Amino acid sequence: MERVDYRGPAHLRDMQSLVQRLWSPESRWHVGDVAWGRFAIPGAESGFRTSVWSESGAIAAWGWAELPGDLSMVVDPDYGGLADQVLAWFQSVARADTLSVTALQTETHLCDALEAAGYSVDRSAPYFTHHLMTLDNLPDTALPVGFAVRHVELHEAQQRAAVHRVGWSDFGSRVSTDSYQEVMAAWPYRADLDWVVEAPDGGWVASALAWLDDLNQVGLLEPVGCAPAYRRRGLARAVNVAALHALRRAGATRAVVAPRGDAAYPVPGRLYRSIGFQPGPRTVTYRRHA
Ligand SMILES: CC(C)(COP(=O)(O)OP(=O)(O)OC[C@H]1O[C@@H](n2cnc3c(N)ncnc32)[C@H](O)[C@@H]1OP(=O)(O)O)[C@@H](O)C(=O)NCCC(=O)NCCS
Repeated sequence: MERVDYRGPAHLRDMQSLVQRLWSPESRWHVGDVAWGRFAIPGAESGFRTSVWSESGAIAAWGWAELPGDLSMVVDPDYGGLADQVLAWFQSVARADTLSVTALQTETHLCDALEAAGYSVDRSAPYFTHHLMTLDNLPDTALPVGFAVRHVELHEAQQRAAVHRVGWSDFGSRVSTDSYQEVMAAWPYRADLDWVVEAPDGGWVASALAWLDDLNQVGLLEPVGCAPAYRRRGLARAVNVAALHALRRAGATRAVVAPRGDAAYPVPGRLYRSIGFQPGPRTVTYRRHA
């Protein structure tokens, strides 16, 4: 087994190919998450440490540390002991007193390796609940009078980043025009899967970015937002439904989305369940002292 440090965007495709090969409704990562997580936040890359493990040229695992002490990982369960190698590498690059690793509860090969390495579940940590739906019976897109829904064009990164920021203003989003351009340049971004709501004055007020994993015919919604001044009018539902229709036209048969599942932030889960998504497995955060 060979480990190499991340070598830039071309290497991301290797990481995504592993995600695609292993994807099931019980996987934490979708190819779209990988692209969004890598490029959306300007400057975030300098705090990433990433390694990829392969055997005879076949990618078997990756570890993606966010300094000082958080790790995400994808490991082919057919390679016994490989998760231990990823955790040992993480320990060598992390700079925190407490190490945190998040997995989906169904990724038992990761959960077992974490427990064996001395990690324990942080039961008070926020978590995300994966939601899944099939796309065969989608509702129609319904909008208040004067509003319109459409997909963006590649030259609209500035406006697109701005509507994302206003939707996420409660959390102080840093997504910029430049970083959105990087998202747009990343595989498998498609402008025809990137949807916005236009208000009667032409301004953009809600957005939903959908990603297609063509191999597994599964879409992902990530991220979704609506400007605070326009909430509770059905705009987020409408832009999501439009994005789901676009995913279906592009060949997806089902879609996933991962809102918070804990009681501290219940609204997005309600939104997705109102569209027809059904809750599935949740993420679990493990921690240990370094
Ligand atoms: C979550 C968010 C996108 C909802 O946008 P919205 O346009 O207000 O949502 P909608 O009006 O389309 O609501 C659709 C359904 O979601 C649920 N919902 C939305 N807001 C709600 C609230 N504040 N309280 C309870 N339920 C709510 C309801 O079931 C609603 O249907 P109803 O109005 O017929 O009862 C918006 O609050 C937001 O941008 N939040 C910050 C970013 C974020 O958290 N994004 C989602 C991350 S996964």
